[in-house]
Amino acid sequence: MTIVLRVDPDNPRKDIVAIAARAILDEKTVVFPTETVYGLGASAFSSRAVKRIYVAKGRPLDNPLIVHISRISHLYEVADEVPEEAVKLAERFWPGPLTMVLKKSRSVAKEVTAGLPTVAVRMPAHPVARMLIDMSTPIAAPSANISGRPSPTEEHHVLLDMLGRADVILLAGETVFGVESTIVDLTRRPPVLLRPGPIPVEMLKQYLPDLVVPPTARGVRESDVALAPGMKYRHYAPRTRLIVVESDDYSDLGKLVEGVKKVVQEAMSKGLRVAIIASEETASMYRDIGVPIAVVGSRKNLYTVARRLFTVLRDVDRLGVDVAVVEGFEEKGIGLAIMNRIRKASGYNVVKI
Ligand code: TXA
Ligand code: MG
Repeated sequence: MTIVLRVDPDNPRKDIVAIAARAILDEKTVVFPTETVYGLGASAFSSRAVKRIYVAKGRPLDNPLIVHISRISHLYEVADEVPEEAVKLAERFWPGPLTMVLKKSRSVAKEVTAGLPTVAVRMPAHPVARMLIDMSTPIAAPSANISGRPSPTEEHHVLLDMLGRADVILLAGETVFGVESTIVDLTRRPPVLLRPGPIPVEMLKQYLPDLVVPPTARGVRESDVALAPGMKYRHYAPRTRLIVVESDDYSDLGKLVEGVKKVVQEAMSKGLRVAIIASEETASMYRDIGVPIAVVGSRKNLYTVARRLFTVLRDVDRLGVDVAVVEGFEEKGIGLAIMNRIRKASGYNVVKI
């Protein structure tokens, strides 16, 4: 049985969050909102509790979790070494959507890190998340989706995936950023971007000038070896096939639209039913083809695209088509995170124009 509670995202009631905090201390699982996506949490110090997360999500046991903290003193509890640059990044970006990989302390349950000697740590900014951690303990949490599905950004996503699977669900409306946190590995020299997110690489580089951005962080195929785990766990994926159309020049929207139309017509000529996932700026340019169009946000503010992306990816299966052709976005700022998610969701099915 799952207890579902609704709280105000800005001014959560202490007595309601206390019910969820009690559950965490009792080694149970709690779904809670963060500013990125909803998380499925359990006490980071309890093996028994953390194992329940893997079961609820159907998550492979070799994929480690992020530890969520609410004060800087927690950082020293969960990490063994906190280098100077981690302190600087924390001062600048915490609380917020940045996750740092550091050396793990012994107190963190080994199930959290899937046996790795490192731990991923982040201090979320969402008032509900902060209150929940404050009233309980550092919380290990992956995104609150069933493994393989897009991360939940809206209340009904959470209910669809986690009702009957989590012990407590805290609902607090739509999340803000809509894509998961930026992850940097500070245990490597030079530091490596493991996952792009709302904190853009351009900003991180002011603090980590030698930050490495590997092809895998862009969601691009690096080699068959690097791809193997990704193939094993297809991410963010709707059942509908996705084809991404990427341009080398997004200032020329006419060119992008022509490229998308070509791919659409090719698919239609094979007798396939097709939809288009487009930006606000280009959506009307496809009206003549007469296929369903899902609008994902504006190119003028890519944060609007990030925010709606997972909702659109979840809804694409309801359009009743065989293929959805997705417009690419410029890899600037949060655009890098958007393209990483879209490429992965497509299973690297990319057409370049
Ligand atoms: O925004 C977010 O980060 C959300 C919210 C809930 O905080 N969480 C989230 O968790 O996206 P999850 O489990 O879906 O993604 C965590 C990622 C995984 O790709 C995992 O492999 C990586 O972090 N990770 C965790 N611990 C790691 C470690 N010690 N070394 C390298 N990667 C790690
Ligand atoms: Mg996830």
